[in-house]
Amino acid sequence: MPSIYVEGKKRLTGKIKVQGSKNAVLPIIAASVLIDGKSVITNCPKINDVETSIKILEQLGAVCSFEDNCLIIDSTNINKSAVREDLMREMRSSSLFLGSVLGRMNEAVISSPGGCDLGPRPIDIHIRSMRSLGADISERNGYIFFSAKNGLKGTYTVLPFPSVGATENTIVASVLARGKTVIENCAKEPEIVELADFLNKAGARITGAGSDRIVIEGVKKLRSVTFAVGFDRIVAATYISAAAVTGGDVLLCDVDTSKMRSVISVFEEAGCNFSYEENAIRVRCRDRLNSLSTVKSHVYPGFPTDAGPTLISALSVAKGTSIFIESIFENRYDFACELRRMGADVKIDGRTAVILGRENLYGARCVATDLRGGAALVVAGLSACGTTIIDRTDHIKRGYQDIVGDLAAVSADIKEI
Ligand code: UD1
Repeated sequence: MPSIYVEGKKRLTGKIKVQGSKNAVLPIIAASVLIDGKSVITNCPKINDVETSIKILEQLGAVCSFEDNCLIIDSTNINKSAVREDLMREMRSSSLFLGSVLGRMNEAVISSPGGCDLGPRPIDIHIRSMRSLGADISERNGYIFFSAKNGLKGTYTVLPFPSVGATENTIVASVLARGKTVIENCAKEPEIVELADFLNKAGARITGAGSDRIVIEGVKKLRSVTFAVGFDRIVAATYISAAAVTGGDVLLCDVDTSKMRSVISVFEEAGCNFSYEENAIRVRCRDRLNSLSTVKSHVYPGFPTDAGPTLISALSVAKGTSIFIESIFENRYDFACELRRMGADVKIDGRTAVILGRENLYGARCVATDLRGGAALVVAGLSACGTTIIDRTDHIKRGYQDIVGDLAAVSADIKEI
C-alpha cells in the first residue's frame, strides 16, 4: 500500500476542482436498488467507499460500469436480499442498503456495519424506522433479518436523533411503501436533499427534504434516471485548512458557497479571507491563524464533525489556545496521537480537544487512523518543517479521490511513495 510523502512549508496557490460528494453519492448508490432500470450517476467520486458500494450492488444482482466519474447501475435483475458480511464490515454506509433492499425485495439481511472507528455507531434508529414501516425483525448469529411479506406500509415516525443515515434509510424504505410516510426530527444535511432530488427525478414523491419534517407519498415504481452529484463540502473544508496553514491563495471550483457557511465563518474568525465567484470560493490567508475560543461540531447547518480533524491540525499552528468540542461522535480523536508526533500540543479530555498553537510542527512518520484523521495528518504535514510520511492511506482513499494530485496541482510538495 503506498504512503503519502509531504515536504512541508510550501505555500499553496492555484485552483482545485472539488470532487463529487462521498456522503451524497453513497446513499444515492444504495437507493438505486429501488429503480427498475438504469441509474446514471455523473460526477461520482472514484473513492474506495464507492468501489465497495459497487461490489455490494453486484453481489445483489445489479450490473455496474464505472468510467470517467460516471457510474451506470442497471438494477433490473436484482434478486438477492442479503448483503455479504465482509462487505458490510468494509464501511458503515453499507447499512444504507437496508432501506432499499427491504423496499425492493420485501426482505433484507444485514450484519453489523463497519467503517471508521469513531466509537460505538449503532443502527438502532434505522431498525426502529423499519419496524415502524411494518417490518418484522429478528436477530440470529450476528445477522439481522428484516421481513415485510406484504410490503412496507406508510407510517408516522419521529426520529429520536436527527441521524443522517437513519433519515436516508427511512426515506428510501418509504418510497415504494403503500401510502404516506411522515418523518419528523429529520437530519437537514444537504446530502439528504440530494438523495430526495435523485429519487424524485426517478418518480418518487418526497417533499420537505432539508427541513426537519419529510413527507413521502408511496409510488408503485421508479424509472431510469440520470443524476449529477454535487461537490463534497468536507473535501472543500480540507482544502481550506490546507490553504490556511500554508499562507496560501487557493480557488476552490465547483463549490456551492451556501453549503459552506459554518466552515467559512470559523476560518474567517481565524483570519482567512474569502471571496466568491460563480460556483467557486477563493481562500487567502497571509498570516499565522488566530486561535478560536470554542468551536463545537453540530448537525447541519452547524460546523460539520467531519471537518473537525483538519481544523484541529490548522489550529495546532495558530497563535494561542483553541478549544474544539465534538458533539456527534464519542471517539473522533485517535489521530491526535499521531499529530503529537509532529510536535502538536493537543490535549484530549472526553469530547474536548484543547489545542495550544505552536509556531512550527516538525515532519514525522505517522499512521492514518481513520478517513478524516488521515486527511488531518496531510494538512499538518503541509504546515510542518521537513518531511512527513503518512501510512495506511487506504483510510484516506475511502473518501478522497486524489488528495495527492489535488494538492500537488496547487504547488504542494506531495507524492505517493
Ligand atoms: C453520516 C456521514 C458521516 C458524518 C455523520 C454526521 C455518510 C455516509 N456519513 O454518518 O460522514 O460524520 O453523518 O454528520 O453520510 N446514531 C445512533 N443510532 C443510530 C444512528 C446513529 O446512536 O441508529 C448515532 C451515531 O452513533 C452518532 C450520531 O448518531 O453518534 C450521528 O450519526 P449519523 O448522523 O447517523 O451519522 P452517519 O449517517 O453514520
